[in-house]
Amino acid sequence: MRAALAALALWVAGPGTLQAQHDVPFVVTPDDVSLAMLELAQVGPQDFVLDLGSGDGRIVILAARRFGARGMGVEIVPELVERSRRNAAQAGVAERARFVEQDLFKTDLGTATVITMYLLQEVNLQLRPSLLTLKPGTRIVSHDWDMGDWRPDRSVTVDAPDKPVGRDKRSQLHLWVVPARAEGSWCGIGALRNARLQLTQKHQVFDATLSAGRSAQLVAGRIEGQRLRGADGFDAVLEGGRLRVTQPGGAPAALAGAEFERCSAQPLMRS
Ligand SMILES: C[S@@+](CC[C@H](N)C(=O)[O-])C[C@H]1O[C@@H](n2cnc3c(N)ncnc32)[C@H](O)[C@@H]1O
Repeated sequence: MRAALAALALWVAGPGTLQAQHDVPFVVTPDDVSLAMLELAQVGPQDFVLDLGSGDGRIVILAARRFGARGMGVEIVPELVERSRRNAAQAGVAERARFVEQDLFKTDLGTATVITMYLLQEVNLQLRPSLLTLKPGTRIVSHDWDMGDWRPDRSVTVDAPDKPVGRDKRSQLHLWVVPARAEGSWCGIGALRNARLQLTQKHQVFDATLSAGRSAQLVAGRIEGQRLRGADGFDAVLEGGRLRVTQPGGAPAALAGAEFERCSAQPLMRS
């Protein structure tokens, strides 16, 4: 598969345009698919879009031109970096769309609010540990390849008649929103100091036992950035090291507005 992609990439780029095949060959994302990727991430003027392996720069340039975003493309092939800079200048967005010749594995990902990738599954999996530590709420969109058991928050299939690879002229786009790390024991503060939330987490999926007094409630749901949404209407937000219940869902109504902090963060009670 990888060899076929590489051969095809050489054909697409033209002989002599690629010097090395690095981690992923150069294959363009067609423009309508690039647009669908940016729409899936809901890119806006406040975003900083980082394209890992940016090819001819089209995704970052489109993000700047169409959505007013800023961004950077990281690309290991020098000719492609030069081509991207020329393309950005031609599109009048050179100020907002920068390109650097750099290994994507040595790139600081922390400045991005949106990361786009058209790589390979094995490369996505290598990046996954770093992606999971990014600021909660960072959006990641991958063209065609997923991230194993870190399931996407959303996937869409788009027609891609101009796609240079594959017989099926369609692309799979996957979106992940980096989840906050909420796992652990949370103790109620103030009037609800007897309430306790015990949370386990696998990527963006959580299970919790919410206990207050004698009643205990099981809550299961998903973490979307800083928000924990339970299937039963439970809703909580993680802010400034505190977890605040905004909707108790099936749990006792008295928990509405209750705030929790990590149990170890609480001072020891003297008896
Ligand atoms: C499939 S192309 C995608 C290009 C562009 N993102 C797009 O969607 O049109 C992958 C790109 O990653 C680049 N690449 C491969 N390994 C890389 C690495 N370790 N660091 C940076 N770029 C790399 C390749 O040169 C190629 O241009």
